[in-house]
Amino acid sequence: MHQKKFNLKITLLFVVSVFCLNAFSEDWNVPTEQKALNSYVKFDAAATQDGEAIYTKNCVSCHGNPSKGNSLKSLNPVPPDLASNKTQALTDGELFYILNTGRMIMPSFKNILSETERWKVIAYIRSFNKNYTQVLSKVDPNKSKLVKVKMMYDALTGKVNVNVKANKPTGTVSLKDAEIVLFVKRYFGRLQVDKTFRTDNEGKASFIFPNDLPGDKNGNLELIVKVNDNNYGEIESNAILKKGIPTDKPALTEKRAIWNIMAKAPFWILLTYFLGVSLVLAVFLYIGCNLYKLWKLGNV
Ligand code: HEC
Repeated sequence: MHQKKFNLKITLLFVVSVFCLNAFSEDWNVPTEQKALNSYVKFDAAATQDGEAIYTKNCVSCHGNPSKGNSLKSLNPVPPDLASNKTQALTDGELFYILNTGRMIMPSFKNILSETERWKVIAYIRSFNKNYTQVLSKVDPNKSKLVKVKMMYDALTGKVNVNVKANKPTGTVSLKDAEIVLFVKRYFGRLQVDKTFRTDNEGKASFIFPNDLPGDKNGNLELIVKVNDNNYGEIESNAILKKGIPTDKPALTEKRAIWNIMAKAPFWILLTYFLGVSLVLAVFLYIGCNLYKLWKLGNV
């Protein structure tokens, strides 16, 4: 009876661990149209060099140097070596998708790196594959320059209304069903406002805007809207909105902060620190002197 219970536990544990292992080694399940996506950035020496700099800043800490097998082994799952056959077997579109979405430990770089930067880092990853030949996308990167983004605050509804249009040579068209995200710029990074939406048939989307965000001295907030359209690519647009709570916040190095310089530290902290250190040194000196005295006594 006892044995049976024990066996059951072992079996359960086994099933659960196999399940966990499977969850970690899962495929990325990239949607078909994303899989076939190609880069409009040519993977030449210049792009690869830029990509290397982006990689060093954003990826090397986890993935290590491609082909060197020095990724961070303490993570679970261990970040794959990106020069490996497994990674290189992925299409450019799949790599791009992975960079966009991320998964668990692997961060999403969609809002950290621009579209061009993401393709350049892929150019660098591909430079470790001798058998790779690039298929360039037919999308014209200059198309995104035709897009105009308008942002308006509606005081009645408390919403920020965004309208996205493209000025084609044949006339102005609304960008329908484009992914659209609104951010407010903060000290460190960006704060997303409301949800990620898709533009309607008139190229419009509305975001509920919070009324309790601290702004600058005049209550100004810097808004960033990011549009992602299958035909026109990625577009970013900025605007200033005077809807924040006026805050007289000092510059980061103006007053006391953990990252500040010594000159800004209050006097009592400096005094306590130096007194403490001097006290320890004095004790050492005292012990040293006494040891010397003992040694001298022994030598008489
Ligand atoms: C915080 C650590 C971390 C950082 C930083 C990071 N990654 Fe990852 N990455 C991972 C982990 C962990 C995985 C495996 C995720 C999984 O399989 O669920 C992964 C998976 C990947 C994969 C899929 C590889 C495959 O063969 O399945 C690619 C491609 C990738 N990362 C590229 C990058 C690039 C490019 C950067 C920098 C722009 C980057 N990663 C930054 C941790 C990281």
